[in-house]
Amino acid sequence: MKERESFGSRFAVIMAFAGSAIGLGNIWRFPYLVGQNGGAAFIIIYILASFLLSLPIFLSESVIGRRTHSNTFGAMEELAPGTKWKWMGLLTVISPLVILSFYSVVGGWSIEYFIKSFGGFGSTSAAGAASSIATGGEASISQVSAAFGWFISSTWGPLFCHTAFLLLCALIILAGVKSGIERFSNITMPILFVLILLIIIYSVSLPGAAEGVRYMVKPDFSKITPSVIAAAMGQSFFSLSLGVGTILTYSSYVSKNEDMVLSASGTAVMDLMFALLAGFAVMPAVFAAGLAPESGPSLIFQTLPFIFTKMGETMPLLSTVVAVLFFLTVLVAALTSAISMFEVGVTYLVEEKGLTRSWATVAVFVGTWILGTLCSLSFGPLHDVHLFGNTIFDFCDKLTSNFLMTFGGLLFTVFVGWKMRRADVRDELTNGRSIRFNDRCFGILYFLIKYLAPIAILVIFVTNLLAK
Ligand code: PFF
Repeated sequence: MKERESFGSRFAVIMAFAGSAIGLGNIWRFPYLVGQNGGAAFIIIYILASFLLSLPIFLSESVIGRRTHSNTFGAMEELAPGTKWKWMGLLTVISPLVILSFYSVVGGWSIEYFIKSFGGFGSTSAAGAASSIATGGEASISQVSAAFGWFISSTWGPLFCHTAFLLLCALIILAGVKSGIERFSNITMPILFVLILLIIIYSVSLPGAAEGVRYMVKPDFSKITPSVIAAAMGQSFFSLSLGVGTILTYSSYVSKNEDMVLSASGTAVMDLMFALLAGFAVMPAVFAAGLAPESGPSLIFQTLPFIFTKMGETMPLLSTVVAVLFFLTVLVAALTSAISMFEVGVTYLVEEKGLTRSWATVAVFVGTWILGTLCSLSFGPLHDVHLFGNTIFDFCDKLTSNFLMTFGGLLFTVFVGWKMRRADVRDELTNGRSIRFNDRCFGILYFLIKYLAPIAILVIFVTNLLAK
Protein backbone atom coordinates (compact mmCIF):
# COMPACT_ATOMS: atom_id res chain seq x y z
CA MET A 1 0.00 0.00 0.00
CA LYS A 2 1.14 3.52 -0.76
CA GLU A 3 2.68 5.38 2.17
CA ARG A 4 0.13 7.76 3.75
CA GLU A 5 1.10 11.42 3.72
CA SER A 6 1.40 13.40 6.94
CA PHE A 7 1.92 17.02 8.00
CA GLY A 8 5.56 17.93 8.34
CA SER A 9 5.75 19.87 11.63
CA ARG A 10 3.79 21.19 14.59
CA PHE A 11 3.52 24.56 12.87
CA ALA A 12 2.05 22.85 9.81
CA VAL A 13 -0.47 20.93 11.92
CA ILE A 14 -1.73 24.06 13.67
CA MET A 15 -1.81 26.09 10.44
CA ALA A 16 -3.81 23.35 8.70
CA PHE A 17 -6.28 23.05 11.58
CA ALA A 18 -6.52 26.84 11.85
CA GLY A 19 -6.95 27.02 8.08
CA SER A 20 -9.96 24.76 8.34
CA ALA A 21 -11.36 26.62 11.34
CA ILE A 22 -10.81 30.20 10.22
CA GLY A 23 -13.11 30.97 7.36
CA LEU A 24 -16.38 32.54 6.34
CA GLY A 25 -17.67 31.48 9.76
CA ASN A 26 -15.33 34.00 11.38
CA ILE A 27 -15.57 36.86 8.93
CA TRP A 28 -19.06 36.51 7.51
CA ARG A 29 -21.13 34.73 10.14
CA PHE A 30 -19.60 35.75 13.47
CA PRO A 31 -19.95 39.54 13.09
CA TYR A 32 -23.60 39.36 12.01
CA LEU A 33 -24.48 36.86 14.74
CA VAL A 34 -22.89 39.19 17.28
CA GLY A 35 -25.00 41.95 15.78
CA GLN A 36 -28.20 39.94 15.93
CA ASN A 37 -27.68 38.44 19.38
CA GLY A 38 -26.78 41.26 21.71
CA GLY A 39 -23.11 42.08 21.11
CA ALA A 40 -20.66 41.28 23.89
CA ALA A 41 -23.07 39.03 25.83
CA PHE A 42 -23.10 36.68 22.85
CA ILE A 43 -19.31 36.81 22.68
CA ILE A 44 -18.96 35.74 26.32
CA ILE A 45 -21.16 32.68 25.78
CA TYR A 46 -19.31 31.95 22.57
CA ILE A 47 -15.96 31.93 24.40
CA LEU A 48 -17.29 29.61 27.11
CA ALA A 49 -18.78 27.29 24.49
CA SER A 50 -15.52 27.18 22.56
CA PHE A 51 -13.51 25.87 25.48
CA LEU A 52 -16.01 23.80 27.44
CA LEU A 53 -17.87 22.28 24.56
CA SER A 54 -16.09 22.60 21.26
CA LEU A 55 -12.64 21.71 22.55
CA PRO A 56 -13.79 18.28 23.84
CA ILE A 57 -15.41 17.54 20.47
CA PHE A 58 -12.25 18.65 18.70
CA LEU A 59 -10.23 16.32 20.93
CA SER A 60 -12.66 13.45 20.33
CA GLU A 61 -12.27 13.76 16.58
CA SER A 62 -8.50 14.09 16.96
CA VAL A 63 -8.29 10.96 19.09
CA ILE A 64 -10.16 8.89 16.49
CA GLY A 65 -8.27 10.33 13.51
CA ARG A 66 -4.77 10.18 14.91
CA ARG A 67 -5.26 6.74 16.45
CA THR A 68 -6.36 5.14 13.20
CA HIS A 69 -4.61 7.29 10.57
CA SER A 70 -7.64 6.63 8.44
CA ASN A 71 -10.60 8.31 6.72
CA THR A 72 -13.81 8.79 8.74
CA PHE A 73 -15.45 5.57 7.54
CA GLY A 74 -12.33 3.42 7.87
CA ALA A 75 -11.59 4.90 11.29
CA MET A 76 -14.93 3.83 12.73
CA GLU A 77 -14.60 0.39 11.14
CA GLU A 78 -11.17 -0.01 12.68
CA LEU A 79 -12.14 1.07 16.18
CA ALA A 80 -15.56 -0.60 16.27
CA PRO A 81 -15.42 -3.34 13.62
CA GLY A 82 -18.69 -4.78 12.39
CA THR A 83 -20.87 -2.26 14.25
CA LYS A 84 -23.27 0.43 13.09
CA TRP A 85 -20.65 3.08 13.89
CA LYS A 86 -19.41 2.82 10.33
CA TRP A 87 -22.62 4.57 9.20
CA MET A 88 -21.61 7.42 11.39
CA GLY A 89 -18.31 7.40 9.50
CA LEU A 90 -20.23 7.56 6.23
CA LEU A 91 -22.49 10.36 7.42
CA THR A 92 -19.44 12.42 8.20
CA VAL A 93 -18.21 11.92 4.65
CA ILE A 94 -21.45 13.34 3.31
CA SER A 95 -22.03 16.26 5.71
CA PRO A 96 -18.89 18.25 4.83
CA LEU A 97 -19.71 17.89 1.16
CA VAL A 98 -23.16 19.37 1.73
CA ILE A 99 -21.53 22.25 3.63
CA LEU A 100 -18.96 22.67 0.87
CA SER A 101 -21.76 23.00 -1.69
CA PHE A 102 -23.29 26.12 -0.18
CA TYR A 103 -19.99 27.35 1.25
CA SER A 104 -18.50 27.50 -2.22
CA VAL A 105 -21.42 29.65 -3.38
CA VAL A 106 -20.50 32.25 -0.76
CA GLY A 107 -16.82 31.64 -1.57
CA GLY A 108 -17.79 32.48 -5.16
CA TRP A 109 -19.39 35.75 -4.04
CA SER A 110 -16.12 36.65 -2.38
CA ILE A 111 -14.31 36.13 -5.70
CA GLU A 112 -16.79 38.49 -7.37
CA TYR A 113 -16.38 41.09 -4.62
CA PHE A 114 -12.62 40.72 -4.64
CA ILE A 115 -12.63 41.55 -8.35
CA LYS A 116 -15.18 44.35 -7.86
CA SER A 117 -13.08 45.89 -5.12
CA PHE A 118 -10.46 47.00 -7.66
CA GLY A 119 -12.96 49.06 -9.59
CA GLY A 120 -15.21 50.32 -6.82
CA PHE A 121 -18.56 48.88 -5.81
CA GLY A 122 -20.52 51.94 -6.85
CA SER A 123 -19.63 51.70 -10.50
CA THR A 124 -20.56 48.05 -10.97
CA SER A 125 -23.78 48.44 -9.04
CA ALA A 126 -25.32 50.67 -11.65
CA ALA A 127 -26.43 47.90 -13.97
CA GLY A 128 -28.62 46.12 -11.50
CA ALA A 129 -29.55 49.02 -9.35
CA ALA A 130 -30.47 51.59 -11.90
CA SER A 131 -33.74 52.15 -10.12
CA SER A 132 -32.16 53.35 -6.93
CA ILE A 133 -30.56 56.56 -8.11
CA ALA A 134 -27.84 57.49 -5.69
CA THR A 135 -28.03 60.89 -4.16
CA GLY A 136 -26.49 61.06 -0.71
CA GLY A 137 -25.82 58.28 1.85
CA GLU A 138 -29.25 56.64 2.05
CA ALA A 139 -29.64 56.10 -1.64
CA SER A 140 -26.08 54.89 -1.94
CA ILE A 141 -26.50 52.04 0.52
CA SER A 142 -29.63 50.95 -1.28
CA GLN A 143 -27.71 51.06 -4.51
CA VAL A 144 -24.90 48.89 -3.16
CA SER A 145 -27.46 46.51 -1.60
CA ALA A 146 -29.43 46.32 -4.80
CA ALA A 147 -26.23 45.49 -6.67
CA PHE A 148 -25.62 42.60 -4.30
CA GLY A 149 -29.21 41.38 -4.59
CA TRP A 150 -29.04 41.66 -8.34
CA PHE A 151 -25.75 39.77 -8.48
CA ILE A 152 -26.70 36.80 -6.29
CA SER A 153 -30.08 36.38 -7.94
CA SER A 154 -28.65 36.34 -11.45
CA THR A 155 -27.89 32.99 -13.04
CA TRP A 156 -24.49 33.00 -14.65
CA GLY A 157 -22.25 35.30 -12.62
CA PRO A 158 -22.60 33.48 -9.29
CA LEU A 159 -22.42 30.10 -11.05
CA PHE A 160 -19.21 31.07 -12.75
CA CYS A 161 -17.73 32.25 -9.44
CA HIS A 162 -18.91 29.12 -7.59
CA THR A 163 -17.23 27.01 -10.27
CA ALA A 164 -14.03 29.03 -10.07
CA PHE A 165 -13.95 28.71 -6.29
CA LEU A 166 -14.39 24.93 -6.41
CA LEU A 167 -11.74 24.66 -9.13
CA LEU A 168 -9.25 26.53 -6.94
CA CYS A 169 -9.98 24.06 -4.12
CA ALA A 170 -9.56 21.12 -6.47
CA LEU A 171 -6.17 22.40 -7.63
CA ILE A 172 -4.87 22.66 -4.06
CA ILE A 173 -6.25 19.23 -3.19
CA LEU A 174 -4.71 17.69 -6.31
CA ALA A 175 -1.29 18.86 -5.16
CA GLY A 176 -1.61 16.59 -2.11
CA VAL A 177 -1.54 16.90 1.67
CA LYS A 178 2.01 18.22 2.01
CA SER A 179 2.51 20.19 -1.18
CA GLY A 180 -1.08 21.33 -1.41
CA ILE A 181 -2.88 21.72 1.92
CA GLU A 182 0.18 22.16 4.12
CA ARG A 183 2.02 24.59 1.87
CA PHE A 184 -1.07 26.70 1.15
CA SER A 185 -2.05 26.97 4.83
CA ASN A 186 1.52 27.66 6.01
CA ILE A 187 1.80 30.62 3.69
CA THR A 188 -1.68 32.07 3.87
CA MET A 189 -2.64 31.79 7.54
CA PRO A 190 0.00 34.18 8.94
CA ILE A 191 -0.80 36.61 6.11
CA LEU A 192 -4.49 36.53 7.06
CA PHE A 193 -3.71 37.78 10.56
CA VAL A 194 -1.64 40.64 9.19
CA LEU A 195 -4.38 41.59 6.72
CA ILE A 196 -7.13 41.62 9.31
CA LEU A 197 -5.01 43.79 11.63
CA LEU A 198 -4.52 46.31 8.83
CA ILE A 199 -8.27 46.37 8.22
CA ILE A 200 -8.95 46.93 11.93
CA ILE A 201 -6.64 49.94 11.95
CA TYR A 202 -8.61 51.42 9.08
CA SER A 203 -11.98 50.52 10.58
CA VAL A 204 -11.44 51.90 14.09
CA SER A 205 -9.98 55.11 12.72
CA LEU A 206 -13.22 55.99 10.90
CA PRO A 207 -15.19 58.81 12.51
CA GLY A 208 -17.92 57.36 14.75
CA ALA A 209 -16.24 53.95 15.01
CA ALA A 210 -15.99 54.07 18.82
CA GLU A 211 -19.65 53.09 19.15
CA GLY A 212 -18.92 49.85 17.28
CA VAL A 213 -15.97 49.05 19.54
CA ARG A 214 -18.23 49.65 22.55
CA TYR A 215 -20.81 47.33 21.07
CA MET A 216 -18.22 44.56 20.86
CA VAL A 217 -17.11 44.92 24.48
CA LYS A 218 -20.26 45.97 26.39
CA PRO A 219 -22.51 43.01 27.21
CA ASP A 220 -26.32 43.32 27.23
CA PHE A 221 -27.33 40.28 29.27
CA SER A 222 -31.02 40.97 28.75
CA LYS A 223 -30.59 39.69 25.20
CA ILE A 224 -29.59 36.21 26.38
CA THR A 225 -32.26 33.60 25.67
CA PRO A 226 -31.98 29.82 25.18
CA SER A 227 -31.94 30.29 21.45
CA VAL A 228 -29.12 32.86 21.72
CA ILE A 229 -27.14 30.32 23.76
CA ALA A 230 -27.87 27.64 21.16
CA ALA A 231 -26.78 30.05 18.41
CA ALA A 232 -23.49 30.75 20.21
CA MET A 233 -22.79 27.04 20.64
CA GLY A 234 -23.78 26.30 17.05
CA GLN A 235 -21.51 29.05 15.79
CA SER A 236 -18.64 27.73 17.87
CA PHE A 237 -19.12 24.29 16.26
CA PHE A 238 -19.26 25.74 12.79
CA SER A 239 -16.27 27.92 13.39
CA LEU A 240 -14.11 25.05 14.60
CA SER A 241 -15.31 22.79 11.75
CA LEU A 242 -16.65 20.21 14.17
CA GLY A 243 -18.88 17.17 13.92
CA VAL A 244 -18.41 16.53 10.23
CA GLY A 245 -15.13 14.62 10.06
CA THR A 246 -12.79 17.37 8.84
CA ILE A 247 -10.87 17.52 12.10
CA LEU A 248 -10.83 13.71 12.19
CA THR A 249 -9.43 13.58 8.67
CA TYR A 250 -6.77 16.25 9.27
CA SER A 251 -5.82 14.52 12.54
CA SER A 252 -5.26 11.33 10.60
CA TYR A 253 -2.34 13.17 8.96
CA VAL A 254 -0.75 14.04 12.30
CA SER A 255 2.24 12.06 13.49
CA LYS A 256 2.24 10.03 16.69
CA ASN A 257 4.58 12.33 18.58
CA GLU A 258 2.48 15.47 18.14
CA ASP A 259 0.73 16.92 21.20
CA MET A 260 -2.96 16.81 20.22
CA VAL A 261 -4.19 18.80 23.21
CA LEU A 262 -1.76 21.58 22.38
CA SER A 263 -2.70 21.64 18.69
CA ALA A 264 -6.41 21.59 19.52
CA SER A 265 -6.18 24.41 22.07
CA GLY A 266 -3.86 26.39 19.81
CA THR A 267 -6.40 26.11 17.01
CA ALA A 268 -9.30 27.10 19.29
CA VAL A 269 -7.39 30.17 20.51
CA MET A 270 -6.43 31.24 16.99
CA ASP A 271 -9.95 30.73 15.72
CA LEU A 272 -11.42 32.74 18.57
CA MET A 273 -8.87 35.50 18.11
CA PHE A 274 -9.61 35.72 14.43
CA ALA A 275 -13.38 35.86 15.01
CA LEU A 276 -12.89 38.70 17.50
CA LEU A 277 -10.52 40.51 15.16
CA ALA A 278 -13.06 40.15 12.35
CA GLY A 279 -15.71 41.58 14.67
CA PHE A 280 -13.44 44.55 15.42
CA ALA A 281 -12.79 44.97 11.71
CA VAL A 282 -16.45 44.93 10.73
CA MET A 283 -18.50 46.44 13.60
CA PRO A 284 -16.73 49.80 14.02
CA ALA A 285 -17.09 50.36 10.28
CA VAL A 286 -20.77 49.45 10.44
CA PHE A 287 -21.40 51.93 13.23
CA ALA A 288 -19.24 54.57 11.59
CA ALA A 289 -21.55 54.41 8.60
CA GLY A 290 -24.61 54.65 10.83
CA LEU A 291 -25.89 51.23 9.76
CA ALA A 292 -27.72 48.51 11.71
CA PRO A 293 -25.40 45.86 13.20
CA GLU A 294 -28.13 43.23 12.91
CA SER A 295 -28.48 43.38 9.16
CA GLY A 296 -27.69 39.65 8.90
CA PRO A 297 -25.83 37.64 6.28
CA SER A 298 -25.56 40.62 3.96
CA LEU A 299 -23.34 42.48 6.42
CA ILE A 300 -20.03 41.97 4.68
CA PHE A 301 -21.33 42.03 1.12
CA GLN A 302 -23.55 45.08 1.41
CA THR A 303 -22.56 47.12 4.41
CA LEU A 304 -18.81 47.00 3.92
CA PRO A 305 -18.85 47.72 0.19
CA PHE A 306 -21.04 50.71 1.01
CA ILE A 307 -18.50 51.91 3.57
CA PHE A 308 -15.66 51.44 1.11
CA THR A 309 -17.63 53.32 -1.51
CA LYS A 310 -18.42 56.16 0.85
CA MET A 311 -14.84 56.50 2.06
CA GLY A 312 -13.73 56.30 -1.56
CA GLU A 313 -15.30 59.69 -2.18
CA THR A 314 -12.64 61.36 -0.03
CA MET A 315 -9.81 58.79 -0.01
CA PRO A 316 -10.12 56.74 -3.20
CA LEU A 317 -6.75 55.02 -3.10
CA LEU A 318 -6.83 54.04 0.56
CA SER A 319 -10.36 52.72 0.42
CA THR A 320 -9.63 50.68 -2.71
CA VAL A 321 -6.55 49.15 -1.08
CA VAL A 322 -8.50 48.25 2.08
CA ALA A 323 -11.42 46.86 0.07
CA VAL A 324 -9.08 44.69 -1.99
CA LEU A 325 -7.31 43.44 1.16
CA PHE A 326 -10.61 42.76 2.89
CA PHE A 327 -12.08 40.62 0.13
CA LEU A 328 -8.75 38.89 -0.40
CA THR A 329 -8.86 37.95 3.30
CA VAL A 330 -12.40 36.61 2.92
CA LEU A 331 -11.47 34.62 -0.17
CA VAL A 332 -8.30 33.06 1.21
CA ALA A 333 -9.93 32.20 4.55
CA ALA A 334 -12.81 30.58 2.68
CA LEU A 335 -10.41 28.55 0.53
CA THR A 336 -8.41 27.09 3.42
CA SER A 337 -11.67 25.98 5.05
CA ALA A 338 -13.17 24.62 1.86
CA ILE A 339 -10.17 22.41 1.14
CA SER A 340 -10.57 20.74 4.53
CA MET A 341 -14.12 19.72 3.61
CA PHE A 342 -13.02 18.65 0.15
CA GLU A 343 -10.27 16.47 1.65
CA VAL A 344 -12.73 14.40 3.72
CA GLY A 345 -14.44 13.08 0.59
CA VAL A 346 -11.19 12.61 -1.30
CA THR A 347 -9.53 10.60 1.51
CA TYR A 348 -12.63 8.42 1.75
CA LEU A 349 -12.78 7.71 -1.98
CA VAL A 350 -9.06 6.96 -2.18
CA GLU A 351 -8.89 4.70 0.86
CA GLU A 352 -12.26 2.98 0.75
CA LYS A 353 -13.11 2.95 -2.94
CA GLY A 354 -9.62 2.61 -4.37
CA LEU A 355 -9.82 5.72 -6.58
CA THR A 356 -6.67 7.62 -7.44
CA ARG A 357 -6.36 11.04 -5.80
CA SER A 358 -7.05 12.70 -9.14
CA TRP A 359 -10.27 10.79 -9.82
CA ALA A 360 -11.41 11.24 -6.24
CA THR A 361 -10.89 14.99 -6.64
CA VAL A 362 -12.92 14.97 -9.85
CA ALA A 363 -15.73 12.99 -8.16
CA VAL A 364 -15.94 15.38 -5.18
CA PHE A 365 -15.77 18.34 -7.52
CA VAL A 366 -18.65 17.10 -9.66
CA GLY A 367 -20.89 16.17 -6.68
CA THR A 368 -20.42 19.45 -4.84
CA TRP A 369 -20.62 21.46 -8.05
CA ILE A 370 -24.07 20.03 -8.81
CA LEU A 371 -25.48 20.63 -5.31
CA GLY A 372 -23.74 24.00 -5.11
CA THR A 373 -25.29 24.98 -8.43
CA LEU A 374 -28.74 24.28 -7.02
CA CYS A 375 -27.84 26.35 -3.94
CA SER A 376 -26.63 29.20 -6.11
CA LEU A 377 -29.73 29.16 -8.30
CA SER A 378 -31.92 29.18 -5.21
CA PHE A 379 -31.28 32.95 -4.96
CA GLY A 380 -32.58 33.39 -8.49
CA PRO A 381 -34.42 31.05 -10.86
CA LEU A 382 -35.00 28.38 -8.18
CA HIS A 383 -36.10 30.86 -5.55
CA ASP A 384 -39.55 29.31 -5.31
CA VAL A 385 -38.32 25.77 -4.79
CA HIS A 386 -38.69 25.05 -1.09
CA LEU A 387 -37.56 22.16 1.08
CA PHE A 388 -39.31 22.13 4.45
CA GLY A 389 -40.12 25.79 4.01
CA ASN A 390 -36.55 26.83 3.11
CA THR A 391 -34.81 27.65 -0.14
CA ILE A 392 -32.26 25.00 -1.19
CA PHE A 393 -29.37 27.15 0.08
CA ASP A 394 -31.01 27.77 3.46
CA PHE A 395 -32.02 24.14 3.73
CA CYS A 396 -28.42 22.93 3.24
CA ASP A 397 -27.15 25.57 5.67
CA LYS A 398 -29.69 24.77 8.39
CA LEU A 399 -29.53 21.01 7.90
CA THR A 400 -25.77 20.98 8.43
CA SER A 401 -25.27 23.82 10.92
CA ASN A 402 -28.24 23.04 13.16
CA PHE A 403 -28.46 19.28 12.88
CA LEU A 404 -25.68 17.33 11.17
CA MET A 405 -22.84 19.15 12.92
CA THR A 406 -24.42 18.88 16.35
CA PHE A 407 -25.44 15.27 15.73
CA GLY A 408 -21.94 14.41 14.52
CA GLY A 409 -20.38 16.18 17.50
CA LEU A 410 -22.61 14.23 19.83
CA LEU A 411 -21.73 10.90 18.27
CA PHE A 412 -17.99 11.61 18.26
CA THR A 413 -17.96 12.48 21.96
CA VAL A 414 -20.19 9.51 22.82
CA PHE A 415 -17.91 7.23 20.82
CA VAL A 416 -14.73 8.43 22.51
CA GLY A 417 -16.29 8.78 25.97
CA TRP A 418 -18.37 5.62 26.06
CA LYS A 419 -17.25 3.23 23.36
CA MET A 420 -13.47 3.54 23.35
CA ARG A 421 -11.43 2.28 26.29
CA ARG A 422 -10.47 5.04 28.71
CA ALA A 423 -6.86 3.84 28.63
CA ASP A 424 -6.74 4.20 24.84
CA VAL A 425 -8.12 7.72 24.98
CA ARG A 426 -5.54 8.60 27.63
CA ASP A 427 -2.81 7.03 25.57
CA GLU A 428 -3.78 9.17 22.59
CA LEU A 429 -4.13 12.47 24.46
CA THR A 430 -0.95 12.03 26.47
CA ASN A 431 1.19 10.19 23.89
CA GLY A 432 1.50 7.10 26.04
CA ARG A 433 1.53 9.24 29.21
CA SER A 434 4.72 10.94 28.13
CA ILE A 435 3.24 14.46 28.14
CA ARG A 436 3.04 15.21 31.86
CA PHE A 437 0.80 18.26 31.65
CA ASN A 438 -1.81 16.46 29.54
CA ASP A 439 -1.65 13.48 31.84
CA ARG A 440 -2.45 15.70 34.82
CA CYS A 441 -5.35 17.38 32.99
CA PHE A 442 -6.67 14.15 31.56
CA GLY A 443 -9.36 13.69 34.23
CA ILE A 444 -10.93 17.05 33.39
CA LEU A 445 -10.68 16.55 29.63
CA TYR A 446 -12.23 13.11 29.90
CA PHE A 447 -15.06 14.47 32.02
CA LEU A 448 -15.76 17.16 29.41
CA ILE A 449 -15.74 14.56 26.63
CA LYS A 450 -17.78 11.94 28.42
CA TYR A 451 -20.42 14.01 30.21
CA LEU A 452 -20.47 17.75 29.69
CA ALA A 453 -20.16 17.90 25.91
CA PRO A 454 -22.77 15.23 25.05
CA ILE A 455 -25.33 16.69 27.47
CA ALA A 456 -24.80 20.24 26.26
CA ILE A 457 -25.04 19.12 22.64
CA LEU A 458 -28.30 17.32 23.34
CA VAL A 459 -29.66 20.53 24.80
CA ILE A 460 -28.71 22.52 21.67
CA PHE A 461 -30.13 19.82 19.48
CA VAL A 462 -33.49 19.92 21.23
CA THR A 463 -33.50 23.73 21.27
CA ASN A 464 -32.88 23.78 17.51
CA LEU A 465 -35.56 21.17 16.98
CA LEU A 466 -38.10 23.16 18.97
CA ALA A 467 -37.12 26.33 17.14
CA LYS A 468 -38.22 24.36 14.02
N1 PFF B 1 -14.89 26.51 10.14
C1 PFF B 1 -15.25 27.04 8.87
C2 PFF B 1 -15.55 28.52 9.02
O1 PFF B 1 -15.56 29.04 10.13
O2 PFF B 1 -15.79 29.15 8.01
C3 PFF B 1 -16.43 26.33 8.28
C4 PFF B 1 -16.32 24.85 8.20
C5 PFF B 1 -15.18 24.25 7.68
C6 PFF B 1 -17.34 24.09 8.64
C7 PFF B 1 -15.08 22.87 7.61
C8 PFF B 1 -17.28 22.72 8.59
C9 PFF B 1 -16.15 22.14 8.06
F1 PFF B 1 -16.10 20.84 8.00
